[in-house]
Amino acid sequence: LMAAPPGPETHDHTSGPVVLSSPPFALFAARMPVVPELAPVARTSTSDLYHLPVVPRNIEILPGLPTPVLTFGGSFPGPTIRARAGRRVVVAVENQAASPANVHLHGGHVAPEHDGHPLDTIAPAATRGYFYPNTQQGATLWYHDHSHHTEAEHVYKGLHGVYIIDDPAEVGLNLPSGEYDVPISLRDALFDTSGNLVFSGNPRDRDVILANGVPVPHFPVAARKYRLRLVNAATERSFTLSLGGGDEMIQIASDGGLLPAPVARTEVAISSGERVEVVVDFARYPVGSQVVLYDATGPVLRFDVTHTAADRSRVPATLRELPVLPAATVTRDVVLAFDRTTGSALGVVNGKVFDPHRVDFQVRRGTTEVWNVHNADVEPAVPHNFHLHLVQFSVLSRNGGPPGPDDLGRKDTVMLAPGETVQVKAHFGTEHLGRYLYHCHFLKHSSLGMMATMEIVA
Ligand code: C2O
Ligand code: CU
Repeated sequence: LMAAPPGPETHDHTSGPVVLSSPPFALFAARMPVVPELAPVARTSTSDLYHLPVVPRNIEILPGLPTPVLTFGGSFPGPTIRARAGRRVVVAVENQAASPANVHLHGGHVAPEHDGHPLDTIAPAATRGYFYPNTQQGATLWYHDHSHHTEAEHVYKGLHGVYIIDDPAEVGLNLPSGEYDVPISLRDALFDTSGNLVFSGNPRDRDVILANGVPVPHFPVAARKYRLRLVNAATERSFTLSLGGGDEMIQIASDGGLLPAPVARTEVAISSGERVEVVVDFARYPVGSQVVLYDATGPVLRFDVTHTAADRSRVPATLRELPVLPAATVTRDVVLAFDRTTGSALGVVNGKVFDPHRVDFQVRRGTTEVWNVHNADVEPAVPHNFHLHLVQFSVLSRNGGPPGPDDLGRKDTVMLAPGETVQVKAHFGTEHLGRYLYHCHFLKHSSLGMMATMEIVA
């Protein structure tokens, strides 16, 4: 692969900002950082307390150009929070930015008042605490802004980070851990000639892929197994990931945590909001090898095998039994689309634009439901996906057939190509009552109204 020269060349997109021609950096030149883990400011016998301010910053993403971003805790992406199953986390968030912001723990089983509802924002200069019980099984979650109508822009500007629930039940499995357990947030970006992130315009023009905040970097690895936690933090795109040469990755987990058993994959796809965990064994490559991780659109990241290292980790043949979900007693239809009749292209769910004060479904706590979720945008064709707050579901079927290869395990976000239908089954526990969202996780769509509310009732 040839690295494109860093370019002062520009091209004009009819109207709007003058954007940098792509890619305005040398491929694989920068090193991908491991995003630092946030250290708690206090610990009690039951809880860990963190400080995570919302802070505007100027950082250098492209060589030699300052980029204004919004950060959690000053870092882009935000710091990784490593919680422990069964221990509470309290996150105190001071908003040092000029506009209201908030935090949603995507995939977290949390009380509604801590779920980061779009209207429940933190005013500039104010502080609030979020309480996360971590009563669910180990999983790779992520946190991001969810403020009404501004979530897409805020997340695009940098308000996202990884949140891992470490589960003591996983310890005996002896999966790669410590420095060999690496969260990787993937997203895209478009820059103007001054280095500003361009939010307006077509998301398809966002041609710079960032891995942990760095454009198409390299990452030195040892010739041994790694657990890679891949998070799609892009506001509106899918990544279809494969290793050069079609080499296998062993999928061990999806949104809700470990699969029952590992699955060998040559390609994994994640749409906005989805997570997938794979184990890659770099021992099969000689020291000195360069192994590129590709998206369908081009390279994302290059692993450079630089040295050998001992490896006592393994991928056991069975990982974790998934609890059997009770029989469903309720079936619902959820149709995602744009309403083009008004000419204003509002997003709708079951024909209705999001109204934060309206309850669309009431769900009895402790029940199990099947939802038929359909993407009706066939003409013109628009991809959507579906994200449900509060719980993970299992995918029962896709387009009337078996679930797809990216539907494994417990999911909270699934891809819906134009015209597709997925049938999902969710069990709503008894721990939390109140209002929760479900929406398309292409955040421009949800901010245009493709979002609705369920209320868990007694
Ligand atoms: Cu990742 Cu409603 O959010
Ligand atoms: Cu959508």
